[in-house]
Amino acid sequence: MKKTMILYCAIFLLFSLPLFSEESENKNINIGQTMRNMMNTFININQSFKANDYFETSEGLMDLAKLVKPLTKINPPKGSKEQWNTFLNELIKNCFLAIGAAADENSEAIKKYLGRISEIQKQGHTLFR
Ligand code: HEM
Repeated sequence: MKKTMILYCAIFLLFSLPLFSEESENKNINIGQTMRNMMNTFININQSFKANDYFETSEGLMDLAKLVKPLTKINPPKGSKEQWNTFLNELIKNCFLAIGAAADENSEAIKKYLGRISEIQKQGHTLFR
């Protein structure tokens, strides 16, 4: 009986731990700080792009995508969570598309995707800031 209880407790802890860690992870994400990091990264991306450095442009785009991803785990300060995630995932997708374009050294396409990222930023700020 005692063994069964211990087993049940262990199973409960095993399954509830990820929930607790997700909770504390959410609280640790600071939107303002993340956005400032995104701004600096986006400036670097644009500078590398202007210098025709496709490697650094791609690295910056991946950095940007990595900064954005954790924001999909938290609730927006205002507005719908579903729409928040749609915008953030669209931003990540455009980073990937721009990296693909960098592989082809296709500056026109990279420019298009960087422009799209700026649009997503503007719309995101109108809706959620
Ligand atoms: C490359 C894209 C983006 C850049 C460079 C950017 C940059 C910034 C900057 C510099 C701030 C001011 C942060 C501060 O000093 O407190 C800010 C705030 C904010 N941004 Fe963005 N942003 C981007 C995209 C987005 C998107 C897509 C969304 C929503 C889906 C969004 C939502 C917000 C919100 C809610 C704030 C207010 C944060 C706060 O005051 O706590 N941003 N952003």
